[in-house]
Amino acid sequence: MCGIVGYIGNKPAYDILINGLKKLEYRGYDSSGIMIYKEKKIVKKTKGKVADLENLFTNSNEKKGNIGIGHTRWATHGPPNKTNSHPHTSNSGEITLVHNGIFENYDSIKKVLIKKGYIFHSETDSEVLVNLIEDIIKTKKVKLGKAVYYALKQVVGAYAIVVFDSKNPKEIVGARLGSPLAIGVGDAEYYFGSDATPFLEFTKSCIYLNDNEMFIVNLEKGLTVREIEKDSIIDPFVQELKQNIEEVEKGRYEHFMLKEIFEQPQSITDTFRGRLISASHPISISSLKKYYEVFKNANRIIFISCGTSWHSSLLAEYYFEELLRIPVEVEYASEFRYRNPVINKGDIVIPISQSGETADTLAAIKMAKEKGAFLYGICNVVGSSIARETHTGIYTHAGSEIGVASTKAFSCQISLLLLMALSLGNKFGTINQKRYLRILKELENLPKTIEKVLKSNDIIESISEKYLDSQNFLYLGRGYHFPIALEGALKLKEISYIHAEGYPAAEMKHGPIALIDKNMPVVVIATKKGNYHKVVSNIMEIKARGGKIIAVVSEGDQEIEKLSDQIIEIPNCDELIAPILANIPLQLLSYHIANKKGCNVDQPRNLAKSVTVE
Ligand code: M6R
Repeated sequence: MCGIVGYIGNKPAYDILINGLKKLEYRGYDSSGIMIYKEKKIVKKTKGKVADLENLFTNSNEKKGNIGIGHTRWATHGPPNKTNSHPHTSNSGEITLVHNGIFENYDSIKKVLIKKGYIFHSETDSEVLVNLIEDIIKTKKVKLGKAVYYALKQVVGAYAIVVFDSKNPKEIVGARLGSPLAIGVGDAEYYFGSDATPFLEFTKSCIYLNDNEMFIVNLEKGLTVREIEKDSIIDPFVQELKQNIEEVEKGRYEHFMLKEIFEQPQSITDTFRGRLISASHPISISSLKKYYEVFKNANRIIFISCGTSWHSSLLAEYYFEELLRIPVEVEYASEFRYRNPVINKGDIVIPISQSGETADTLAAIKMAKEKGAFLYGICNVVGSSIARETHTGIYTHAGSEIGVASTKAFSCQISLLLLMALSLGNKFGTINQKRYLRILKELENLPKTIEKVLKSNDIIESISEKYLDSQNFLYLGRGYHFPIALEGALKLKEISYIHAEGYPAAEMKHGPIALIDKNMPVVVIATKKGNYHKVVSNIMEIKARGGKIIAVVSEGDQEIEKLSDQIIEIPNCDELIAPILANIPLQLLSYHIANKKGCNVDQPRNLAKSVTVE
């Protein structure tokens, strides 16, 4: 994880770096630091947030300089303290480096460098690299660019790095393998970032570096990008960014998470744009159209993903098997990549990822590709590694998601998965035409229906107040609501630190019911249709044992209202749409509980938005 920024040009670098780091804090917030150069180098770093770093710059002279690099850290090697913070500086003090990723063979390189007399202050792999670069400069008598090239040939692992040599302060060098790195191209100035948000307000011209590429930016000679393996110069693709700066600002909302929850009607409109014109038009998904035959002849579909995206995958299994009649498997990417799975030609592997950078998902993709699978990626971040590593795919177009807890990205993923299953099912004749049209009509109205669900915000906020002291929560759902129960529990635990578990409601009697007493709140998703009456029985079983019941029900339900302590209503709808709606009150419940408990909702402890380490 970690976020890196950099700037070289004629503007004052300090504000660009600090504001850029704030935008990247979602990637890690254990510590932060920056280096600024003006005749001499200033390096400041600290444990904690970028705001703490800002407090260290009390002297305005220290902020001067038109070149600099910065870092916000999610700790991997060594605890989150000042010494382990980036930027790291070489023994001579001349080379400075920021790094996102992990060097697996750093220990053996460190031993060699120690024998040569190098001294290490931190426990990080990054400090090893900066000294290795320095050693190469000295022994091979090369400049920074060549030294970075030789150093990267020696290291094993994942990285995005940006490096500066104070002996040549008109130059910045960087490289990537496995961790993202974007270059913003301005007018005789260049910006660097783990994503484009740090420079979105300054330039829309962006180069996303590919794996195994490095760059040298020299204020006199401009930008050169090289392929590391082939050691050849390449002509990078300069992309015009479509994102707006407003997307990455909180606006009138207290937190990004709340803003992103309320953005869902718009996000889903964007997901459907051009794909679902209206219920009377055929669904138009170009990447599916192109590969209909591949899907038609598929032996099975395997979804791979992590966290919330794994919950989307689980719901996709229900959607795809119901509507397509193709066998589906759902795998945690982290397990799949290490367990030598059987993959044959004719298998379609569908990775799902908001960030498109999750290390386990990326590694699982590479492995499945080598074994001959067809890879169809579903990502939110345009141009991300997963989007580029797959044969084809589709973007969710949920917009920037900054809150660490995924909300709108999940809603867009599951809405898109339903749309895809409907499109394929209709084409293959595996779905009844009447039902197809009815669901399509409901999907067309989905943004408006979600607006109605969001009107329950005040009711949900008042419910949240009753549970601030709860130590545990259970979330129950059956059928399409089972993945939503898992997602509801994950959302609560990651932002409020309350222990929460999701279960299929019928599993209660196989163990978890032993936990029920008057202190156990149980959130039950119990909408009409599907297994409604069976869920009512499950609620009675909990009631009989004194549990507190918060039920998400269909509008007008009176039966469950009598059994529950609190109810939250969602509009009546098809059972395939219900999970998309039922999830939204659970997002709000988690948000209000966490916020009222005083938790950092957008940046929960120990987490980061983009998990680029395994
Ligand atoms: O970017 P991805 O969708 O690949 O991320 C996967 C998980 O790390 C992510 O969903 C995580 O579980 C979120 N914090 C959940 O809110």
